[in-house]
Amino acid sequence: MQPTNWPEKNIVVTGASSGIGLRVAEMLTERGARVIALDRKPPPLALSRYIQVDLGDPDSIDAAVASLEEEPVHGLCNIAGVPETAGDETVYKVNYLGLKRLSGCLLPRMARGGAIVNLASTAGHMWHERANLLWELANIDDWNEAEAWIDAHSVMFEESYSKFKEALIVWTRAVASGWYMRHGIRMNAVSPGPVKTPIFDDFVSAFGMQNVDDILERTGRIALPDDIAAPVLFLLEDQSRWIVGVDLPTEGGLSASRFTSDMRERVHPVLP
Ligand SMILES: NC(=O)c1ccc[n+]([C@@H]2O[C@H](COP(=O)([O-])OP(=O)(O)OC[C@H]3O[C@@H](n4cnc5c(N)ncnc54)[C@H](O)[C@@H]3O)[C@@H](O)[C@H]2O)c1
Repeated sequence: MQPTNWPEKNIVVTGASSGIGLRVAEMLTERGARVIALDRKPPPLALSRYIQVDLGDPDSIDAAVASLEEEPVHGLCNIAGVPETAGDETVYKVNYLGLKRLSGCLLPRMARGGAIVNLASTAGHMWHERANLLWELANIDDWNEAEAWIDAHSVMFEESYSKFKEALIVWTRAVASGWYMRHGIRMNAVSPGPVKTPIFDDFVSAFGMQNVDDILERTGRIALPDDIAAPVLFLLEDQSRWIVGVDLPTEGGLSASRFTSDMRERVHPVLP
């Protein structure tokens, strides 16, 4: 198997100015790839190119994509995101609608064999409970129509961060196979538990310290950006060429630990 020839690759990384996106951009740069950073603020390290964008604004996204016209794109890492404390509207625009728009606009100009990786979250692990409705939303491409749909279903989007991570996982699953068959582009998601980045404190206030303590008890530590960046790179590489449309949990055994506790509780009554 040929190793990925990183120096020939142009990889667009959103959220490259901080946390997980920054670490992904660093690791790609170390391997010789050309990183095109899309963020609302400039990255703290020298990357091949920086384009300022507000991923919550469709016009800003369209302008960023237009400025990439001449460059072939081999990979897209949709990493930028905001926590619940940013407000529900910003959450759905940046974490969901903006990500969809950027991906849809870049898709036709991506080289066959390319890959898209979406940063979801373990917060979205209950997506199957709302799959039918989230499927409906996944199939609305128009920004205004999607906003109207979200407005009409606002009750289901309380706890907007988790719900739009669910929506992201459902969208990834909904379109990945079609995009792979028609365009030769693989799309997958990566779902971390808590990661020590600048938005970690927002997560503690949104989900509660007790929840974080429970996770710590089950995984031994909080993840670092490195723990998440490495699987993102793997899903970009040719090595993962037969992985399409999955949501890869990268959470130190959190769900396995919960499964073990659930099974012990269920089995316990029949034990002598
Ligand atoms: N840190 C965690 O515990 C954790 C856990 C699970 C999932 N995630 C997800 O990982 C991703 C990265 O988070 P992080 O922890 O590295 O956070 P971070 O705050 O360190 O980085 C987020 C980046 O997104 C950029 N960004 C935010 N709003 C933007 C906008 N409107 N337009 C353009 N860029 C914008 C920021 O400038 C920043 O560079 C997010 O999607 C987040 O939901 C994080």
